[in-house]
Amino acid sequence: MKSFEKLLLENKAWSAEKKAVDPEFFERLAQVQTPEFLWIGCSDSRVPAEIIVNAKPGEIFIHRNIANQMIATDFNCLSVLQYAVDVLQIKHIIVCGHYNCGGVKAALSMQSPDLMLTNKWLMHVKQTYRFHKDEIDALPSENLRVNRLVELNVIEQVQILAHTSIIQRAWNKHQRPVLHGWVYSLSDGLLNSLITLYSDTDLDPVFKYNFQNDLVQ
Ligand code: CO
Repeated sequence: MKSFEKLLLENKAWSAEKKAVDPEFFERLAQVQTPEFLWIGCSDSRVPAEIIVNAKPGEIFIHRNIANQMIATDFNCLSVLQYAVDVLQIKHIIVCGHYNCGGVKAALSMQSPDLMLTNKWLMHVKQTYRFHKDEIDALPSENLRVNRLVELNVIEQVQILAHTSIIQRAWNKHQRPVLHGWVYSLSDGLLNSLITLYSDTDLDPVFKYNFQNDLVQ
């Protein structure tokens, strides 16, 4: 059997098992999705969002990319964010990084001429390194340097989320969502919280939107 055929077979088994336990499972799920969480995670196959938090289908709206980045000009991530916040009205956003992230490791290495696009995507992580260069360079091993940048990258993405108009408007109007920055350890399967931002977060004025004249409110 080819590897992809195994996936299709496993899918049949999964569907049958779900129906056996709960005959209305798919009918119910097909009606509507009301997830409480948006998850922005790394594409790494070892960090499957639903599995590591024991979530069921319908519970988490998910966006994953290399090194779990929220980039203010990336329409893919922004449209996921807008839909999650304005339509699904999610209550929490979780940016989840993971130790030993290949993307972060690559960002701490020289640029690869064979991976022009990936280099560009990782440029934002390199900038975060530049902001914290002294702290990271002082660490005694590559592993520690990568893992500290993993943490700083998560914190940076949460800050970037707070700087978007989508989040600031939702904070202003609905006092949600709460923004969380978590890091996952591949070695023990545990999550740790690094940062939490609530709707009353005092942002630097240069990142603040002025909604005073906002007629949409
Ligand atoms: Co990764």
